[in-house]
Amino acid sequence: MKLFIDTANVAEIAEAASWGILDGVTTNPSLVAKEGRPYRELLAEICRIVAGPVSAEVLATEADAMEREGRELAGIAENVVVKLPITKDGLRVCTRFAEEGIPTNLTLCFSPAQALLVAKAGATYVSPFVGRLDDSGHDGMQLVREMVQIYDAYEFATQVLVASVRHPQHVVEATLAGADVATVPFKILEQLFHHPLTEIGIQRFLADYRAARDVH
Ligand code: E4P
Repeated sequence: MKLFIDTANVAEIAEAASWGILDGVTTNPSLVAKEGRPYRELLAEICRIVAGPVSAEVLATEADAMEREGRELAGIAENVVVKLPITKDGLRVCTRFAEEGIPTNLTLCFSPAQALLVAKAGATYVSPFVGRLDDSGHDGMQLVREMVQIYDAYEFATQVLVASVRHPQHVVEATLAGADVATVPFKILEQLFHHPLTEIGIQRFLADYRAARDVH
């Protein structure tokens, strides 16, 4: 199970990388816009911080323009993964890139049917948005389970990258469902560390040690 961070903030990425648990990064246009920096310069910096895959989304919506943009993004660093929307044009470009070995992340996946198409187009990753499905009254994690079942049954190579993660339990459920990756916002990565018994345990060990030291 790989853990990616879902942010374009370099301070968050550097901090999470320092914990030794970070396998990659996902960004999207909304996250990039929040940083207020030129897209390509920001992407290059992120790719220098993390050696693993860094997803960068195209802004174009028509196949030839998407392809040009995707190639340009892929040229920024060796670890760039070109993020494409699940549309007919997105899948056209995905197929072309798959033939050339350019890694892709097909984004905004909301159904097993979309997941099937994406795998057939040779995507490297597919991103089911579990939180947005939950928000709309559906069961996001059920989609992940169905995708894993389909991919396993037909030995598709596309990796399931669980996105739109809203809380630590999403990460645990994604892991139990057999997903390949979860991409997690910084705040939720931090929450994964916390358990009250760990905090209490540390305090008690230190108190016991200090008390014994005072006696001897
Ligand atoms: C994934 O690649 C997306 O950046 C992200 O997970 C979207 O999540 P949101 O629904 O919180 O915007």
